[in-house]
Amino acid sequence: MCRPDHYTIAYEINPWMNINNPTDPAKARRQWNRLYQFIQNSGSEISLIEPAEGLPDMVFTANAALVYEDKVILSRFRHSERQGEERYFADWFSQQGYKCYNLPDGISFEGEGDTVYYRDILLLAHGFRTDIASHPCIESIVGREYKSLKLIDPHFYHLDTCLLFIEPIDLLIYYPGAFHPESVKEIEDLPSKILRLSEGDAKSFVCNSIWAGCNLLSYKCPDSLAAKLRGYGLNIITLDISEFMKSGGSVRCMVLHLS
Ligand code: ARG
Repeated sequence: MCRPDHYTIAYEINPWMNINNPTDPAKARRQWNRLYQFIQNSGSEISLIEPAEGLPDMVFTANAALVYEDKVILSRFRHSERQGEERYFADWFSQQGYKCYNLPDGISFEGEGDTVYYRDILLLAHGFRTDIASHPCIESIVGREYKSLKLIDPHFYHLDTCLLFIEPIDLLIYYPGAFHPESVKEIEDLPSKILRLSEGDAKSFVCNSIWAGCNLLSYKCPDSLAAKLRGYGLNIITLDISEFMKSGGSVRCMVLHLS
């Protein structure tokens, strides 16, 4: 995770961001602290990277890289506004002793933001931030087969905003409207239980939740959806991270899984 010391809305690179809708730094800090506390209390160990001035979105560490065992595929950000983050994350991972991989020049990839580990394969998105050309490179480094899914709605510019796989209960939650019809078919063919979200439910960023066992931590969860999720055995916990939604990110964007 990365403390939100320099977090602000300094540019607009997705439809949620509006430079005229500024953040409240003290409130953002409190919200981030609560998320940190929750993750720590759930028994996970958290490593921090030092935030860098002038890189407000560094707080969204899910986009930094994709980690697989001791290997790290470093991200190459689509937008120049975030490209300055790359060297800080590269330094951090090499200092921690990870084997770091860079994709060939000119290929964009935004890490865990556009990747879902699904059973023994990878679901990899393209369309907004990540180039489809990155997918075979990722397969060869990670050594897992993949399915490419095409995103088509700019409100759901990363895969982690519109698809969530909750492994312990084998449940896949997704918003069909965010995907190209061919990709919807691919998702529907996956052999798990599937819960389809309405546009309204999807816009509460439920797919951008994190889970620990059967606990699902979400920014918001509309009542009717919460009831459905409870029916699958999940315990729904909500955490106000409204300051980060101003940048188009919820809880899952603010963490990168290291193991
Ligand atoms: N403002 C950031 C961006 O547009 C938000 C990133 C959210 N991260 C995510 N994993 N969905 O890049």
